[in-house]
Amino acid sequence: MKMYEDLIRTTPDEHIYSDHTYDNVDVRNSFKNPFKRKTKRRLIVVLVVIVIVAVTIIFTALLLAKEKLSNTLETTDNQQTTSSNRKTTDTDTSNVNCATGWITTFGLRSCYLFSNDNKDWIGAQSRCRKLGGSLTDIETNNELNFLNHEVRSRFRVYWIGGTDNGTEGKFRWEPSGQPFTVTNWSPGEPNNAGNNEDCVYYNRQNGRNKWNDDNCNSIFSYICEIKV
Ligand SMILES: *[C@@H]1O[C@H](CO)[C@@H](O)[C@H](O)[C@H]1NC(C)=O
Repeated sequence: MKMYEDLIRTTPDEHIYSDHTYDNVDVRNSFKNPFKRKTKRRLIVVLVVIVIVAVTIIFTALLLAKEKLSNTLETTDNQQTTSSNRKTTDTDTSNVNCATGWITTFGLRSCYLFSNDNKDWIGAQSRCRKLGGSLTDIETNNELNFLNHEVRSRFRVYWIGGTDNGTEGKFRWEPSGQPFTVTNWSPGEPNNAGNNEDCVYYNRQNGRNKWNDDNCNSIFSYICEIKV
């Protein structure tokens, strides 16, 4: 009980005293250093806020830029499809008419579909067959130039109908079985890396739009061709 009373009696004094002391210390410190401490703390707070705001702005800007880019690409793809269709139907009377979504150009007797989905090489081949064609072969420079040009404007990797499955190093077009007459390999390709690359795709990396051999189980977009 006495201890308790002592506590009651002394605590307020101590409290006041300690407050007082604390005040004194504070006052002394601020006499010593009128701005430095507060300024330093504020500076740190401001810096932290600036960093947070900057990171938020950069992140948002990146998101917006990405969205805008993919919108632009979609628009470009649509415009190209539309203009190619118009070219086919309006100006090139000697050319073939292609179904919606399929494109061609002057001098070619085929229509081509650039897929928006991705499949392995066999899956792509069977999808093209279901559509009435096959994975594209490339038999002339005219056809090669047209496909190079189309691939360059699209940001995808496309399977084409070339393979050396079962005849390592001897590439042919499937399903015709015809050997390659024109080629467009990337430098150093085909290299059959890992002894496991038998199917040919259009590699869009660095705008090279060249061919590469790859594992037939890889998943890419694909170009179907219907000869008319
Ligand atoms: C490669 O050839 C084998 C044997 O004929 C066949 O089973 C396989 O499906 C072929 N793969 C491709 C991607 O054509």
